[in-house]
Amino acid sequence: MGKALESIADLIKKVDVVIEVLDARLPSSSSNHQLQALRRTKPWVKVLNKPDLADPAVTAAWLKQFKSETGVSAVAISAKKQLEVKKLIKLCKELSPRNGRLGFPTRVMVVGIPNVGKSTLINTMAGRSLAKVGDKPAITTVNQRIELDGIVLSDTPGVLWPEMDDQEGAYRLAASGAIGANALDYHTVGLFAAEYLMRRYPELLKSRYKVAELSESPSALIEEIGRSLGCLIAGGEIDLNRASEAFLRELRAGKIGRISFEEPSLSQEVDS
Ligand code: G4P
Repeated sequence: MGKALESIADLIKKVDVVIEVLDARLPSSSSNHQLQALRRTKPWVKVLNKPDLADPAVTAAWLKQFKSETGVSAVAISAKKQLEVKKLIKLCKELSPRNGRLGFPTRVMVVGIPNVGKSTLINTMAGRSLAKVGDKPAITTVNQRIELDGIVLSDTPGVLWPEMDDQEGAYRLAASGAIGANALDYHTVGLFAAEYLMRRYPELLKSRYKVAELSESPSALIEEIGRSLGCLIAGGEIDLNRASEAFLRELRAGKIGRISFEEPSLSQEVDS
């Protein structure tokens, strides 16, 4: 077991409920599967965060799949929305074995890979702005307990790296913005995202870029986008890297529409 996982395993032993934050657009690639081995009998809540950016039908299918796992609760809520986060706090209390025992607040910890919204969630839970947590795996030793109504929460989440052994998963993480721009170059990721969107969400692309028909290939689409956004270099050529960067920025901000990058196993029907 790696050091980060080891320290998280130790902390998990000391809490009543674990909140695992996932990105609703890619709940599998944004999870660390080694973490699942630590679940055992501990109540576990999977929060599908950023649901405002994900395809609602696909999110519903993910929730159905997760809820069928033993010991797992799953909710799709935005970490930015106080009312939704309040429901999560209530759920944690209900799941705690200490529920209702006077003087025994529910001990909760938040875990997840970088950029899924852990700090946002902790801030909303705390009702105030705490320092942004670094992206280093593991846990800072100096952390503070936040005492809320019936809940004790550490202000520092458990951070684990995503697993990058699957190349498709790495591309999805990069397309969503979960891993930094330096990990893979913009054009490669842009081409991956363009190919996926042309196949899975062609109507959203047509509507965003106001075209009746899509370009014949992902590279032609990126060129079109680059041309329309004025991403040019000397001689009138398209700057493909800048065009891809602009396309990815739009995609990540939800400007193209609500997009999910992966669906649960094909045996699960997507309710639309
Ligand atoms: P982390 O601690 O897990 O690393 O993630 P963090 O909370 O820093 O959130 C990463 C980014 O995700 C932030 O955007 C944050 O605002 C955004 N985010 C969190 N929850 C939601 C949500 O429900 N919906 C959407 N659309 N975005 C969400 P950022 O651009 O990196 O920072 P900022 O400019 O918003 O501060």
